[in-house]
Amino acid sequence: MKGRFLFLSVLFCSTFHVSFSIIDGLVANGNFELGPKASDLKGTVVVGGSKSIPEWEISGFVEYIKSGQKQGDMLLVVPEGAYAVRLGNEASIKQNIKVMKGMYYSITFMVARTCAQEERINISVTPDWGVIPIQTLYTSSGWDPIAFGFKAESETVEMLIHNPGKEEDPACGPLIDSVALRTLYPPRPTNH
Ligand SMILES: *[C@@H]1O[C@H](CO)[C@@H](O)[C@H](O)[C@H]1NC(C)=O
Repeated sequence: MKGRFLFLSVLFCSTFHVSFSIIDGLVANGNFELGPKASDLKGTVVVGGSKSIPEWEISGFVEYIKSGQKQGDMLLVVPEGAYAVRLGNEASIKQNIKVMKGMYYSITFMVARTCAQEERINISVTPDWGVIPIQTLYTSSGWDPIAFGFKAESETVEMLIHNPGKEEDPACGPLIDSVALRTLYPPRPTNH
């Protein structure tokens, strides 16, 4: 599997010794470098159904964007690797991720909007969600980092990134790239 993973081995104190690996870094195909088959694409639009992008389940008007692609006069450059996705009106991408129940995590990703209109993203990790406005209008370096923290309520959580927009131009949705999972370590109690 492609994608860059950093495996961390976590050791608790030696008497109570638990060793496990956690994934801290991109989620599976989190930079969208694995793309749809040519037959599942019509131009940039993914037309091959919900399983067209490896590791993801997609819904609605999703575009698969290659870095260097033009939109009008604008040359699109993506932050991680060579590809990103764009979520049109009501489009979403989701993935189940394995976590440790009770631990705190954050989902991070990069977003950019390329149209003048207001855009928002609804990020949810069952059972929590939050709607985040996208500030920056796209420039070659103008991607916003988004972070969404959650406490894992089960061993597998569903992460859903959704564009709740209802704009006239379905292609006017936010670009998404570099979806990663990070473990948040709770503050340690002080000794005294
Ligand atoms: C955000 O997504 C969650 C999960 O799908 C949903 O329950 C919630 O109603 C959505 N919120 C908005 C404002 O769209």
